[in-house]
Amino acid sequence: MFTYENLKKILFMFQPETAHHISECALKSLPKIRFLNNYLVNKNFVVNTKLKQEILGISFINPIGLAAGFDKNATMINSMMALGFASTEIGTMTPRPQDGNAKPRMFRHINEKSLQNAMGFNNEGSFKVAKNLKKTYPNAITIGANIGKNKHTPEEFALNDYKVLIERFKDISDYIVINISSPNTPNLRDLQNETFINELFSMAKELTKKPIFLKIAPDMSVENAVSLSKCAVNAGASGIIATNTTIDYSLVKNSKDFGGLSGACLSNKSYDLFKELAKELFGKTILISVGGISNGQDAYRRIKAGASLIQIFTGMIYEGPSMVGKINKEVLELLQKDGYNHISQAIGADLK
Ligand SMILES: Cc1cc2nc3c(=O)[nH]c(=O)nc-3n(C[C@H](O)[C@H](O)[C@H](O)COP(=O)(O)O)c2cc1C
Repeated sequence: MFTYENLKKILFMFQPETAHHISECALKSLPKIRFLNNYLVNKNFVVNTKLKQEILGISFINPIGLAAGFDKNATMINSMMALGFASTEIGTMTPRPQDGNAKPRMFRHINEKSLQNAMGFNNEGSFKVAKNLKKTYPNAITIGANIGKNKHTPEEFALNDYKVLIERFKDISDYIVINISSPNTPNLRDLQNETFINELFSMAKELTKKPIFLKIAPDMSVENAVSLSKCAVNAGASGIIATNTTIDYSLVKNSKDFGGLSGACLSNKSYDLFKELAKELFGKTILISVGGISNGQDAYRRIKAGASLIQIFTGMIYEGPSMVGKINKEVLELLQKDGYNHISQAIGADLK
């Protein structure tokens, strides 16, 4: 019988990056197979007024989005509804094309339902990705552009990389995400400092009125994460996305000593930081939670902790294409159980 468990057995016989390319080929072709695409959209894409939100002038049909790193080159946007996602974050794109780090650079920790990656912003470069985006923007789903500096751009010119990227993507995406939290570009996380954040958002706000989010790492202390996020918000950030992958290699048994961990092993760490961040920032800015989410209960606890939106990457690799639909349906059940008529009533309920 065709189940994702069976398909996963085949996909997991390949190296993770090869499996990703196979999935990318399938997802690129899916919209051309109209009956299958329509069947999957009907099955997985949850449309319900209780889940629909207008955030910063952007429409989100449901709260679950694809996290950055899966669709680095904007080649799979038209398949996202079939997977149930109401938003997708393209990238991370760099100004110039980049090969990324040496292979192998993606690993599975199957028992822990986790991944470890050291991709290093492999992408076709902002020019090519923008060309792809122009074909699909605007779209029925919401599109974010996640941007990062090139590996070989020295720190003193990093600001210019972000300037070039914002100019390139501001009119062909619904929102922009500044990524200075990947562990796989040497010294990138050093840019998570208040001086740079101030300069960055001052410059960015001059360039566009579109929402700009900052994505942060889970490996900072709560104090650092809060003060950095506050600084970003004061400098003009529209919200915070927490978190990227972690370099806490103690979270899985047979970890490599490089790259970043994602998936189930990251769930509590990401939630704990998110919760603390929300205590300080909920109501003052928009908060998006990502890291190890793979079921409705977990998504709902992030929502109650203050998340307006949820993002997912690794969970989908382990749970398959019906996961997002299930999560949205579970969230609807949990809303009903708590007596809420709309998701906005649950967002931050733990803090009220
Ligand atoms: C293979 C892989 C590549 C990733 N690439 C990026 C990236 O380019 N930019 C980014 O902001 N996050 C990237 N991420 C991080 C995810 O967007 C997300 O923040 C993280 O994986 C935690 O979510 P998850 O546990 O649901 O995967 C990547 C994650 C994985 C697994």
